[in-house]
Amino acid sequence: MAKRKSANPKGDGASVYVGIVGLGYVGLPLAREFCKGGAKVLGFDVNSKAVATINRGRSPIKHIPHTTMSEMIGSGQFRATEDMRELSKPDAILICVPTPLTKNREPDLQYVETTCHTIAKYLRKGQLVVLESTTYPGTTREVMLPILEQSGLKAEKDFFLAYSPEREDPGNKSFQTSTIPKVIGGYGKESLRRALEVYRCAIETLVPVDNCEVAEAAKILENTYRCINIALVNELKMLFDRMGIDVWEVIRAAGTKPFGFSAFYPGPGLGGHCIPIDPFYLTWKARQYAMPTRFIELAGEINTGMPEYVVQRTADALNERRKSLKGSRVLVLGLAYKPDIDDVRESPSLELIEMLKEKGAKVDYNDPYIPQTHKQREYDLRMKSKPLTAKTLAGYDAVLIATNHSEYDYAWIVRHARLVVDTRNATAAVRSGRSKIVKA
Ligand SMILES: NC(=O)c1ccc[n+]([C@@H]2O[C@H](COP(=O)([O-])OP(=O)(O)OC[C@H]3O[C@@H](n4cnc5c(N)ncnc54)[C@H](O)[C@@H]3O)[C@@H](O)[C@H]2O)c1
Repeated sequence: MAKRKSANPKGDGASVYVGIVGLGYVGLPLAREFCKGGAKVLGFDVNSKAVATINRGRSPIKHIPHTTMSEMIGSGQFRATEDMRELSKPDAILICVPTPLTKNREPDLQYVETTCHTIAKYLRKGQLVVLESTTYPGTTREVMLPILEQSGLKAEKDFFLAYSPEREDPGNKSFQTSTIPKVIGGYGKESLRRALEVYRCAIETLVPVDNCEVAEAAKILENTYRCINIALVNELKMLFDRMGIDVWEVIRAAGTKPFGFSAFYPGPGLGGHCIPIDPFYLTWKARQYAMPTRFIELAGEINTGMPEYVVQRTADALNERRKSLKGSRVLVLGLAYKPDIDDVRESPSLELIEMLKEKGAKVDYNDPYIPQTHKQREYDLRMKSKPLTAKTLAGYDAVLIATNHSEYDYAWIVRHARLVVDTRNATAAVRSGRSKIVKA
């Protein structure tokens, strides 16, 4: 495959052989970057369908094109397998498995633990194991280390251990995996040295830190920072609306300050596998230190209340038009948790649809990237995306913009819809038909 001018001062990563466990939104882009850096990559996943798709040179995720996947497979540098016995082959094993919450909103480390037990079976001397999944500070040392040492090998002597959080941002056109600086913390000095050596061929800027805990905490800080700032603008959105002030205009104005302010935007709630989940990993850990994390709890409370606010705004807007939400036809635009991706994990759209249905609305959705819903942790909507035509739009009492996909023609949507509830300021540039738009 076409090689990137390698960041490795030695010129290429031909001597690097990595195994990547978990070939999802994080694992696959990482595999791509290692291939570009010239490394050999063996991908591991328990999902046999995904493994077969990848080995056919097809991509299971939208933002990695099929052509990239077929180049990676065609180059002979990459293949995927379900056979965990092959874990003894690569020199470094990078773990990118899910870290969700349990039903009681506590860290669910079952995927990390299972992976470590499997690695321990095949671990050989000299191998480096790196956790990339987001988790609370202490996971690498307290959870992974004892499992891996069940192999009979000693960390920092026989094998090496590090934590390096993934900062993948699917759909971000300005940054890709190789250009996002990578924080790395080692269990010991030699672990760190080896981890830096491995990542050097794939990532342009490496940021070594004192230990695994600093790296784990840095990732949680980044995501908590987003979660709290989004909660702040969500709260201000509700306040400013009562005051007759447009919060998006306020953020646009404040954003002109060249220092000391970073713009965050309100929305219908938090989505994705990171921001709604990761801060609660820290909250859980903080309890062991008898320390309440009030900022995080408050942000969570505000953000999780957003879908209810949006439903109320929709009901109020229909009421203004002498209609009740019960019996109204509502079309939700966008199921993905953010624009231009096909990931619905924790998407607020799912909750919006459930809440609207509970209140008696007849709900459909459209999403160009998600033709039908699949069973999620909490939802099983069993719905199919409705085609978007002028006629279908006009048939709904309200069109609710939940995700601002750039593919949508918002002027056209407003022209044909009877009422548009906009949770993303997606219609900001639409000039005519503004009386039909309600921001929420
Ligand atoms: N998606 C993102 O944008 C993003 C960004 C930064 C960090 N993260 C973090 O990265 C981690 C992975 O997230 P993701 O979005 O890639 O998840 P994902 O669900 O897209 O991919 C995880 C993959 O791991 C596989 N898997 C599960 N258990 C396994 C096992 N025991 N052995 C082998 N494979 C196994 C699954 O089949 C799946 O293909 C999470 O901790 C997440 O918080 C995600």
